[in-house]
Amino acid sequence: MIKTLARVTDIVLKAGAAAQKEIKGGLQPAFSGNVQWPVECKVGPGLEGAIACESKVGYVNGSQGALLYRGYTIFDLCAYATFEEVAYLLTRGSLPTATELTTFKEQLNLFRSVPLTLRRLMSFPVEDMHAMAALRLGTNLMRQEFTSRDLNPSRGGARKVIGTDEDSIPMETLPKGTPEAVYQFTRAPGAVNGEEDEQTGYRAALHLLSGVSTIAAAIARVKRGQMPIDPDPELSFAANYLYMLNGRRPTPVEERIMDISLILHADHGMNASTFAAVVVASTLSDMYASVGAGVAALTGPLHGGANEDVMKMLDQIGDAANVPQWFAAKQARKEKIAGFGHRVYKTYDPRARILGPLAREIARDNPETKRMYATAAALEKVVVTTLGKAKGIYPNVDFFSGLVYRALGIPTELFTPTFAVSRVAGWTARVLEYLEHNRLFRPRAIYTGPTDCTFIPLNQRDRKS
Ligand code: ACO
Repeated sequence: MIKTLARVTDIVLKAGAAAQKEIKGGLQPAFSGNVQWPVECKVGPGLEGAIACESKVGYVNGSQGALLYRGYTIFDLCAYATFEEVAYLLTRGSLPTATELTTFKEQLNLFRSVPLTLRRLMSFPVEDMHAMAALRLGTNLMRQEFTSRDLNPSRGGARKVIGTDEDSIPMETLPKGTPEAVYQFTRAPGAVNGEEDEQTGYRAALHLLSGVSTIAAAIARVKRGQMPIDPDPELSFAANYLYMLNGRRPTPVEERIMDISLILHADHGMNASTFAAVVVASTLSDMYASVGAGVAALTGPLHGGANEDVMKMLDQIGDAANVPQWFAAKQARKEKIAGFGHRVYKTYDPRARILGPLAREIARDNPETKRMYATAAALEKVVVTTLGKAKGIYPNVDFFSGLVYRALGIPTELFTPTFAVSRVAGWTARVLEYLEHNRLFRPRAIYTGPTDCTFIPLNQRDRKS
């Protein structure tokens, strides 16, 4: 394990300097200034190249290998900021002042406990479910954290409804003439100045940001036959996540590496899961449904699920010496290699520039992770020298994240949920931004079927004809 925090910062800054060399002539977004809709763009299958909306949340430059959150490079954010500062930056639009950060952390702390959600989730066979399926379920159950009664998604109003769960009825009160309230409802924590509780807004985003990490950690423990651990309000977001997973407070270096991993996964343009989240929001559904959609989309092996596949692949290859033969066979079968390639990056993914050297250094002390890193490094070399120049195939964020997670004691099945824990920041930031000028998503499909079929009654249909 890396010995000092200064060494971690050094690795990040060196990676930033290497990335900076790729950026020639500064970063120039293709579109800038006032956008005049409709815009012209070339669209490929899978909406490749399509422009869905305007955004100030983040910028990905795939040809120069750059990633910015609200104008700040991820290298500076990883070197100098915490995940809480980055989550504030993404959702609020600017870096917080010291006072704003303290308030933000207090709000997040209030939302770390999701007792009703966990209790409801545990009535499902979580131990037999894919961790992402359980997380998706938990995210949707969170919508009912403050009440058992379902709410009108577009109107919300949790304080107006009756909580039927015994935990949410601290005391009986006399009816005051309102038809809806007989029992006092447990007020959602974090509500300020009589602000209406609502499901679509910023507080739902904060609730999810904290709650999803608690649910993910609980899922991991239940799957290992252990009891969930209560969050520790004294710990940072990153340290608390590791604590709830492993049952021990991490070292400052482990905490910092977790923090960096969270920062690196927090946002990434209009990727599949973010798009899914925003599409759901555009129907004026609610934040919980949006984040649930994001979790669903992130599950697949072409997106967030790749980090699990990478570890399985490295296990399967077994040793660096086996890489040439394994790669040749894979190429002969025209199969893709997990953790490589990207729809946007046709150069080195800047996130992999940080995670690669971090993985190398933290894998060193453990013979198993050391062997896996050596295998990964050998595979990286052969893929970059063959497919890199020819097709722009380089390691993506998922190639090294698994090695880093493993060194932090995160079980493999929790790799993709850990990605989700962080990406909640990006999903919610972009949903909040999109809803400011909401327009229902409704793209078209190119119809390629027939237009002149004559209806055949059921008893006359014959597949051969
Ligand atoms: N290994 C080998 N060849 C690849 C790979 C790969 N991982 N990825 C793309 N290629 C090749 C394709 O075979 C294709 O070659 P061809 O033109 O000779 O047919 C060419 O590169 C273009 O590939 P596409 O699939 O069209 O590229 P696309 O932009 O759709 O793919 C994707 C992006 C889905 C991520 C792809 O690279 C892939 O499947 N990678 C492996 C899974 C993975 O790591 N996913 C995580 C992505 S990062 C994230 O979501 C957080």
